Amino acid sequence: MSAFDVLKRLRAVMPEGVTPKFETAADLMAWHQEQGRVTAERIAEQNRLTRLQGVLGRSGIQELHRTCTFQNYNADLAGQQHALAKSKAWAAKFGSGFGGFIFSGGCGTGKNHLAAAIGNALLNVGKSVLVVTVPDLMMRFRETYQDGSRLTEADLMNDLCNVDLLVLDDIGVQRGNVNENVVLFQIVDRRLSNKKPVGMLTNLDSAALTELLGPRIMDRMTMDGGMWINFDWPSYRRNVKS
Ligand SMILES: Nc1ncnc2c1ncn2[C@@H]1O[C@H](COP(=O)(O)OP(=O)(O)O)[C@@H](O)[C@H]1O
Ligand SMILES: [Mg+2]
Repeated sequence: MSAFDVLKRLRAVMPEGVTPKFETAADLMAWHQEQGRVTAERIAEQNRLTRLQGVLGRSGIQELHRTCTFQNYNADLAGQQHALAKSKAWAAKFGSGFGGFIFSGGCGTGKNHLAAAIGNALLNVGKSVLVVTVPDLMMRFRETYQDGSRLTEADLMNDLCNVDLLVLDDIGVQRGNVNENVVLFQIVDRRLSNKKPVGMLTNLDSAALTELLGPRIMDRMTMDGGMWINFDWPSYRRNVKS
């Protein structure tokens, strides 16, 4: 049935006094096409996520951090209050710039907690989020080089570059070999070029991270709404009742 026929039939069954949503067959056709485009995009997105879940064996945020929110982040110290406020603002402004976030500091200071809070807030509004440790990611890349791998390196790279927010955890924990550093650089470079933000969690300081990723990436990470936050307070873990 043509779009025109559909419109004619709609008119015939429409109660008196109801204005048709579409005045012309062309409008109706355009609407159909737009719906088709939206559906196709949604399916492509779902496929990507399913594939990533297959590769990583889990969904976007690790079990441990799935319940982390801004609400259950205790901000007693001034630095924590600053980190919380900036993280909330960053999530609220998501999509308006490609600048990312870098949380730098010691173990147990809540970097993952706030990154997961950002991620959970975005998941709630339908964005796709992936938090992954660099060592885990490198293992997945090594798997793609093996014979019989379902996924090619290019597939994995594409999927990582298409997710709305990618958070790279534990950058610098293992001193990667040259090839791994190149892969890391490529992921971040490609995402930033596509104006897609990256979150980074690291125990490296600014000089060490710049040495790893280069000044050009670091510049782009922190411009256009990007931020660097030092998590320079003691580990939270001793506050957790066991
Ligand atoms: N300010 C905080 N308020 C509530 N829980 C926190 C806070 N900081 C850390 N935590 C909790 O402590 C644990 C360790 O924090 P995590 O975010 O994994 O630290 P990091 O990633 O910096 O090593 C997690 O269970 C986290 O939810
Ligand atoms: Mg951590």
